[in-house]
Amino acid sequence: MRKKVATTRRRFVALSGTGLVGMLLGCIKPKGGSDSQAGQGAGVGATDTSGATDTSGADDTSEADPTCEETAADVEGPYWREGIPVRSDFDLYSDAGHSLTLTGLVTDAECNPIANAVIEMWHADPITKDASDIVASDTVGYDTSSSEMRYYGQFATNTDGQYSFHSKKPGWYLNGGTFRPSHIHVKVYVGGVERLTTQLYFAGDPFIADDPWATAERSVALTESGGGALSGSFDFTLA
Ligand SMILES: [Fe+2]
Repeated sequence: MRKKVATTRRRFVALSGTGLVGMLLGCIKPKGGSDSQAGQGAGVGATDTSGATDTSGADDTSEADPTCEETAADVEGPYWREGIPVRSDFDLYSDAGHSLTLTGLVTDAECNPIANAVIEMWHADPITKDASDIVASDTVGYDTSSSEMRYYGQFATNTDGQYSFHSKKPGWYLNGGTFRPSHIHVKVYVGGVERLTTQLYFAGDPFIADDPWATAERSVALTESGGGALSGSFDFTLA
């Protein structure tokens, strides 16, 4: 059965104040401890469902529906803001850093694309250094107060359930004495109902291993094109 979170966005916001302590506490929850999200897979992978590799035969009437793995939830963290602006291009500030484009689908557990799903993303400021070169003073932050809401945005999937997002790859920030891996916070809403809160990471980030929340299943493999632009794909599958 589809698990619906019976909270509208506004109601969630109303709860966020009292939930802040919990969110912060969630920031020190150990990986693999009592994480209720454990064991949930992610819908990472190619989005092509053209059936070009179908070898089942023309008369195959199998009723076995494809099953997409539910994208695991992750902690919201303390930096979500109300009133996130509508935009899918966050690269608006001429900041130095690595150009980043993500594309993918939002689907249900039967792999049906969901049109008009609203995706919120927010992330920390970009940085030009690589992970291997950063030091404590390179820690980056979120735009927690300005009206620009830099690196915050929301956008909808198209009629085929597809989304496309562009930004600069987030930098790294310290959580205590340890850098968190570069990541993007995500919420997905369908029909105004919040259906998923999670985080995306990037494959190969050296800080994933010791992070309490990052998983390989939600780590996007990036490819680099000419000029150093990075791109990757991630499909969100809702329960
Ligand atoms: Fe974060």
